[in-house]
Amino acid sequence: MNLVNKTEKTFALTTPLYYVNDVPHIGSAYTTIAADVVARFHRLLGHQVLLITGTDEHGQKIQRSAESLGKAPQEFCDEVVPSFISLWQLLDIKYDRFSRTTAPRHEAIVKEFFERVWESGDIYQGQQQGWYCVSCEEFKEERDLLEGHRCPIHTNKEVEWRDEQNYFFRLSKYQNKLTEFYQSKPNFIQPESRRNEVLSFVNQGLQDFSISRVNLDWGFPVPVDPKHTLYVWFDALLGYVTALLEPDAEPTLANALETWWPINLHLIGKDILRFHAVYWPAMLLSAGLPLPERVFGHGFLTKDGQKMGKSLGNTLDPVSLVQRYGSDAVRYYFLKEIEFGKDGDFNEVRFINVLNADLANDLGNLLNRTLSMVKKYCVDNNVPSIGNEGISDENPLKTIGLRLGEQVKEAYKELAFSQACGAILSLAQASNKFIDEQAPWSLYKQGQQESVEKVLYAVLESVRLAAYLLSPIIPNISSDIYQQLGFGIDFNDQIQSSVTAPFATHATWGILSSKQQLGTFQPVFKRIEPPKND
Ligand code: MSP
Repeated sequence: MNLVNKTEKTFALTTPLYYVNDVPHIGSAYTTIAADVVARFHRLLGHQVLLITGTDEHGQKIQRSAESLGKAPQEFCDEVVPSFISLWQLLDIKYDRFSRTTAPRHEAIVKEFFERVWESGDIYQGQQQGWYCVSCEEFKEERDLLEGHRCPIHTNKEVEWRDEQNYFFRLSKYQNKLTEFYQSKPNFIQPESRRNEVLSFVNQGLQDFSISRVNLDWGFPVPVDPKHTLYVWFDALLGYVTALLEPDAEPTLANALETWWPINLHLIGKDILRFHAVYWPAMLLSAGLPLPERVFGHGFLTKDGQKMGKSLGNTLDPVSLVQRYGSDAVRYYFLKEIEFGKDGDFNEVRFINVLNADLANDLGNLLNRTLSMVKKYCVDNNVPSIGNEGISDENPLKTIGLRLGEQVKEAYKELAFSQACGAILSLAQASNKFIDEQAPWSLYKQGQQESVEKVLYAVLESVRLAAYLLSPIIPNISSDIYQQLGFGIDFNDQIQSSVTAPFATHATWGILSSKQQLGTFQPVFKRIEPPKND
């Protein structure tokens, strides 16, 4: 198979394909928001981007959820899938492909892939005995279980004993190849702590794992033995490949892998690291395919220290959160407040404080106060006539601004969203301080018009730069700020914004044109009143 079409200018990334045992919760939204931010950032860099998301619909967990509601599994999945699609719309997620594992074209890809692995001699029949967590859809080692045979991740669920004939995948054969691969690609697994986890797991010695189930109908039949159903994870990982097919292309591996393979980034939560960083590359090696570039395992959102999850029933409803606070607020909070890669607890008081401090005060109020000063002190309501050329490199805002673009670019590349937000916010804070120190109102009274304009230009330009660099995270607020500054740019229209506001020019301090006609002023983020305790 010829797989050399991929260019430096393309970037394909995935979210996990979410189980549809229930409507999405904030944990699923977390990965998807992060993926959307990365996709938006790459589009601004001028890359062609393919953002893949979707749903994982087979297996026992889904079958049981459907049964408990007295529904046929397909009917059940068809009813749940729209709740994912509508949440992504609500959160302004601009995905390019939505992959459903029950799609007929997916079955064709799975079958062809299975056959390649079969031809490599990596599938054999054996006896599977062990403890199975249906919520994880994974066998667990006895030593990892909690008291009462409960799963360490789904702490309210007991694992189930299984003893059955299964087909196995010869994972053990790939022990050395995987080890060499991890060595040659130190950035394959990130962050470093997850890489270490995987290395120590692999160093303990890899065991073959079962890739079929008996006594389960809901899944694809094993191509060589239809009495067996293919293990949901074997099928699900291939959903990433199916997603690469052009909508009208015949579902073959060659067509799927032609343009976008290998995937540049798999974004996942830490609980599914082993599947992506060990099983998946081994399966691909067996099928003779190139491996993905990078797998990033983020932490858990917790509530009172416990993983939030559908199975535990302690989740936060993302729909009501967005309805109450808006999509930018939710996107910003999770990326700014939790270091990507680490766990983070959700707390409503903290949520409100962060949004008020950063978006309402530091950024929103800064724009507001500056624009009203422009209105008072400058003619025509335009950007002050003293532009970038009139401002010396020693200006404190210019000094920060000139470095900021590169700094934030690196942070986005590293998925250090919180760091990116922090650096951008420090420009907004410095701008507020600069106004207070320079006191344009006094300068105006003293008749120092040029100095007034220099201060106001420097601040407006800093707000613009901050808005631009935050646009992957808060696209609506950034668009509002841009429009008030007189740009006809909407960051939700990504084809337009990547052409009219490319990173190469807009991430630099000093591009705001003097005398640019400003738009209509209005607050970009209203202060949130904390809920009253009764
Ligand atoms: N279906 C599999 C993935 C197959 S990918 C080929 C799956 N689905 S899931 O819906 O259970 O979880 C999807 C993702 O959501 C995982 O990355 C998981 O880590 C993430 N989260 C689920 N609960 C979470 C939190 N409480 N916090 C953060 N992310 C969490 O696994």
